[in-house]
Amino acid sequence: MKICHIVGARPNYMKVAPVLRALRAYPDVNQFVVHTGQHYDFNMSEVFFRQLEMAPPDVNLQVGSGTQAHQTAQVMIRVDPVLCEYKPDLVLVYGDVNSTLAAALVCAKRGIPVGHVEAGLRAFDRSMPEEINRVLTDQVADELFTPSEDGDVNLLREGICPTKIHRIGNVMIDTLVRMLPAARHTLPRDLPEKFVLLTLHRPSNVDHQEWLAEMLSVFADVATDIPVLFPVHPRTRGQLERIGNRIGNAGLRILEPLPYLEFLALEERATAVVTDSGGIQEETTYLGTPCLTVRDSTERPVTVSLGTNVLVGRNLLKLRNELRRILNGEQTRGKVPPLWDGHAALRLGEIICGKASADASESRQNSQGRASNVHVRGTYIPTDRDLHEPRDNSILTYD
Ligand code: UD1
Repeated sequence: MKICHIVGARPNYMKVAPVLRALRAYPDVNQFVVHTGQHYDFNMSEVFFRQLEMAPPDVNLQVGSGTQAHQTAQVMIRVDPVLCEYKPDLVLVYGDVNSTLAAALVCAKRGIPVGHVEAGLRAFDRSMPEEINRVLTDQVADELFTPSEDGDVNLLREGICPTKIHRIGNVMIDTLVRMLPAARHTLPRDLPEKFVLLTLHRPSNVDHQEWLAEMLSVFADVATDIPVLFPVHPRTRGQLERIGNRIGNAGLRILEPLPYLEFLALEERATAVVTDSGGIQEETTYLGTPCLTVRDSTERPVTVSLGTNVLVGRNLLKLRNELRRILNGEQTRGKVPPLWDGHAALRLGEIICGKASADASESRQNSQGRASNVHVRGTYIPTDRDLHEPRDNSILTYD
């Protein structure tokens, strides 16, 4: 079975890494990684491949930056011939970035089966490019792998056939669980005892200079009480340069975008994280770190209902009050959502490869007129219980 993984932007790498690893357990699976080149700086891409111990991508389409339309169109144009040549049995796309939708559309039109990892998330805000990418990718995908129950509910509401929906849990948390011990070794010696970790990159926050300047002046105030560490995304850096004079020497500790391990270590140790990222809402929920999200909506409601996430929207008074509560030790204490257990990619592998084996076995059964048992052609076919209950991998045997 030939499986092609398509990734393009920073949050995709943590999601593909455990899937690549899990599928390596199946000798019949041949894997191929295409990087669209949506993110191309060393510290937005290559450093993640190195830290996550992934081989460099087999192909890099080098689409680079551009408008939404340009970037999406370029991925489509450049990935099409690659897929025609490689002829995968299944393409896996990840998350909600432009590369995800572009690749899914090409597959749908070429009749190549496509699986969406992190399906079903909805912010119910179509002004976000990511929401458009999520909705459309899910409509054309053949297999939809959801991280939480709300994902299944959203997909069913949109008319997706239930047999296509597989709740596997959160693959990004698989990577977190595996890498956390190594991440802890990267903590700088001179790290302050208490600090706020800030990240901002959504167009709705950083493309409007007035709003960005207003927000950063809140953090300039906060920084007089507690250090604020601010690794700056390239999109945000451009704007910061433009408004720099207005916020003056804000006292923020401005950093380059951090590699995965270094950032994860800071997330675990931070007194509070303030962000507009999707993935960081999930990571802080797993780590139990208080998180304030500077957005009006979230596509990851479980981080609010179960986790440590509080939406502060565009309300700077609420942001200040919630920060004060956390600094006073009155933070939300959360729980880890079900199936965010480090084994999501294993469940995905079992579904994909189990399905392939079941198809093979069915055709054999039809031709030979007899039933097969759980182990077919060297691939483990999971039972319902296997798929829905976290368990120790060591009891799984692939023969
Ligand atoms: C993209 C994703 C977003 C994800 C984020 C993570 C979409 C619609 N958005 O947003 O969902 O949370 O990645 O980072 O796909 N740039 C560089 N170097 C790079 C990459 C980008 O300088 O390596 C610059 C680009 O020139 C551009 C800006 O950053 O000016 C934005 O990049 P782009 O990939 O368009 O979107 P992101 O804001 O990164």
